Amino acid sequence: MKPRILVIDDEAAIRDSLRMILEYEDYLFVGAASGQEGVAAVQRERPDLVLLDIKMPGMDGLEVLRKLHALDETLPIVMISGHGTTATAVEAIRSGAVDFLDKPLSSERVIVTLQNALRQSELRSENRELKLAMESRYEIVGSSPALRRVLEAVKRAAPTNATVLLLGESGVGKELVARTIHRNSPRASQRFVQVNCAAIPEELIESELFGHEKGSFTGATEKQIGKFEQADRGTIFLDEVGDMSQKTQAKVLRVLQEQEVERLGSARTIKVDVRVIAATNKNLEDGIQRGEFREDLYFRLNVIPIVVPPLRERREDIPLLVQHFAKLTSEEHNLKPRRFDAAAMDALQRYRWRGNIRELRNAIERLMIMAAADVVRVEDLPPEIRAGSSGGAVPMTSEPVAIPQSTYATAGSTAAEESRPVGASAAGTLREFKDAAERAYLVQKLRENNWNISKTAEVIDTPRSNLYKKLEQYGIKQEVDG
Ligand SMILES: Nc1ncnc2c1ncn2[C@@H]1O[C@H](COP(=O)(O)OP(=O)(O)OP(=O)(O)O)[C@@H](O)[C@H]1O
Ligand SMILES: [Mg+2]
Repeated sequence: MKPRILVIDDEAAIRDSLRMILEYEDYLFVGAASGQEGVAAVQRERPDLVLLDIKMPGMDGLEVLRKLHALDETLPIVMISGHGTTATAVEAIRSGAVDFLDKPLSSERVIVTLQNALRQSELRSENRELKLAMESRYEIVGSSPALRRVLEAVKRAAPTNATVLLLGESGVGKELVARTIHRNSPRASQRFVQVNCAAIPEELIESELFGHEKGSFTGATEKQIGKFEQADRGTIFLDEVGDMSQKTQAKVLRVLQEQEVERLGSARTIKVDVRVIAATNKNLEDGIQRGEFREDLYFRLNVIPIVVPPLRERREDIPLLVQHFAKLTSEEHNLKPRRFDAAAMDALQRYRWRGNIRELRNAIERLMIMAAADVVRVEDLPPEIRAGSSGGAVPMTSEPVAIPQSTYATAGSTAAEESRPVGASAAGTLREFKDAAERAYLVQKLRENNWNISKTAEVIDTPRSNLYKKLEQYGIKQEVDG
């Protein structure tokens, strides 16, 4: 596609000569004789780049620049500066113009400048897209109070260098939280190095964590930089710390105390500046009791504990998570978007999710790929989910993990809060789906707050009048327990 260039200049002669240069080079030319016309043309023509004269009667170039950037801050704008406006051109660059051209215009300069500016803008938009894709990949989805408490703690911990200990069952999102802390820390531009402490074979631990010099032991054919050194000035994520062997615990404790490492086969100590985030699904205090986990290491790690609650304690997040994973999956696998009808969503919300968000994510991915129709119905769900879990009915195959209470306590919900059917109407349209999700959310919140309207309105941060309106709209009535 030919790039579309908008030229905003009050002088017809300049517009004409630029038209000739541009069309000769196979660009599409659009002209505007004033600032006003230019602003209108940007909205109408969606140009890829603007050439903008600085000195014009009426709205001058700088003002037009501001107006255009208010419309689209990513639009590349090259200023055309005449006699005596070079200082203004510099100011324009400071205000966001990408470059400027001096009058009289040389066709060669015009073309080179355009090519550079277009290339840069392309790179920038690729970056933006990549970043957006990355962000949505690492987005923490959910709005439950339980999750909000986690995000609050993340917000407080992220800007500091303090060691964070993430606690919670398998699949609750500990790694996601760790990455979020790093991304929101002053170390964000440095590396995030992940170490799975449970997976490293005992005899390789030292060289993994601290590195080795070539020839330091049989098999060390190349020099290796250890994880701590790799993470220098960044963040090291010690995952599954509860599964570390005694030997590793001792080694890790030493680095944390000394903030320095020694490569195997080297006498030199290397100072490292790392921020530590650790995670485990084990109860470390029990580990200490049993003599399996070092207490001194526990105190080193347990500076800011953050408990990530299991999914069954924040079921109100499920509809949002389902939509999120459905979207990610359809993007990743190039699938048509699919909807989940109200009954299916309801079953998903009631299921116990012992594998937490990872299990939910896998289930949604499978459904998106396997379901025949555009709408996923309750019949499409695997039998165990369809059966609906009434909490205790599903046998626990893994040991329940007792999470120590901390100042960042997890949601105080109980099994009594199992959510119930959101209504029989099948969600055919997005509207219906949203309504069903909203209704389920409200019922859940009302239950949590013992059907106290004022309290509920406060908790979900909406005016009481709005909550009343919603109750009426969805025909929600207080249920009588029986
Ligand atoms: N709130 C959330 N929003 C979106 N995705 C999430 C959320 N929480 C977790 N996930 C996703 O769920 C999956 C499991 O999360 P993660 O790997 O962070 O869990 P974990 O607690 O580290 O589990 P384990 O203890 O088994 O290592 C990942 O794909 C992650 O992106
Ligand atoms: Mg993990």
